[in-house]
Amino acid sequence: MNTKADTALTDSSAQKMGYVYIVGAGPGDPELLTIKAARVLHEADIILYDDLVSSDLVAQFSARKIYTGKRKDSHHFEQDAINEEILRHAREGKIVVRLKGGDPFIFGRGGEEIEVLRKNGIGYEIIPGITAAHGASAYTEIPLTMRKVSSSVAFCTGHPVSKIQVPDTDTIVYYMVASTVREVLEAVASKGREDATPVAIVQNATRYNQKIITGTLGELRTGEKPVYSPALLIIGDNIRHSIDDTWYSKKKKIVIAGEDFSMANAADSVKVHFTCKGKSGDYTAVERDEPIDLEYINEIYFSSPSCVRDFHTAYQALPEKIRVKTADQATQEEYEMLFPNTYK
Ligand SMILES: C[S@@+](CC[C@H](N)C(=O)[O-])C[C@H]1O[C@@H](n2cnc3c(N)ncnc32)[C@H](O)[C@@H]1O
Repeated sequence: MNTKADTALTDSSAQKMGYVYIVGAGPGDPELLTIKAARVLHEADIILYDDLVSSDLVAQFSARKIYTGKRKDSHHFEQDAINEEILRHAREGKIVVRLKGGDPFIFGRGGEEIEVLRKNGIGYEIIPGITAAHGASAYTEIPLTMRKVSSSVAFCTGHPVSKIQVPDTDTIVYYMVASTVREVLEAVASKGREDATPVAIVQNATRYNQKIITGTLGELRTGEKPVYSPALLIIGDNIRHSIDDTWYSKKKKIVIAGEDFSMANAADSVKVHFTCKGKSGDYTAVERDEPIDLEYINEIYFSSPSCVRDFHTAYQALPEKIRVKTADQATQEEYEMLFPNTYK
């Protein structure tokens, strides 16, 4: 069966035009990608991916990958430049996937991007993704609605401060709050919500380093705890129904250094990949391989002596609590030599 992209590419009467898929990648866990998104990512010639898209996810696809991340302080690509880049590749007849964190239409600028495509007569489709609020809700066991507790929920932005709104819903989820949590909580308190209202801050939802900070509106609006991006703020009585020992927190977080994935059973663990240079010294990793936060890791598996060396170059020491497994005797010896303080 021909896809629309095939049709666009084989229409001989028109200039060879590409096709653009605006795709939501979900909030972080690479397995939260939809089947449809995975299919078009396999078909793509070019993947333009955002800051919040996990590198493990994009690494699976053979298309040319272009990182368009734009973190607040180190702008990589401005939105106009991204639009230009999408158009340029589409006009060259390419199948372009514009891959965004979460859902493209929830604070994702998907709306702006399709306007540009419409204006320029480029064919496109939109594939929804799991937005951060849904990922955070499921992976922290905080239901966003619940009978007799919360019958309405709103998604709002916490940035910029001038755009903070406080709707009259039972549950409010604020996106983009890393630098504005206190301002958001002040705004919520000023609208009359009680100081005892439960609040949860969820950092890195659905990722191995997911962290939940809970408290009351009164406590957290005066607190000093730093909040790191990406983070969401959830406000409402539904948070009373969450627990500390969630299904996700119970999973072992395992670093797989190298290519042997048979080690970790997907059902009871979360895998974090460390890309080794290999013998050639060439990294195959996508741009922006973020350093792994070892504080969240329970176990490391080294697949070869050269992987131990690469890992040692990146992280000179290992926290003592981490359990280490090695593929064979030579790898074990390399590990014992390079990490003598953690080897016991
Ligand atoms: C520009 S918005 C993009 C939202 C995205 N389109 C979505 O649907 O989730 C970026 C904000 O989404 C939230 N976010 C995205 N991924 C997140 C994650 N894994 N954990 C917590 N918050 C996340 C944060 O509030 C972050 O500042």
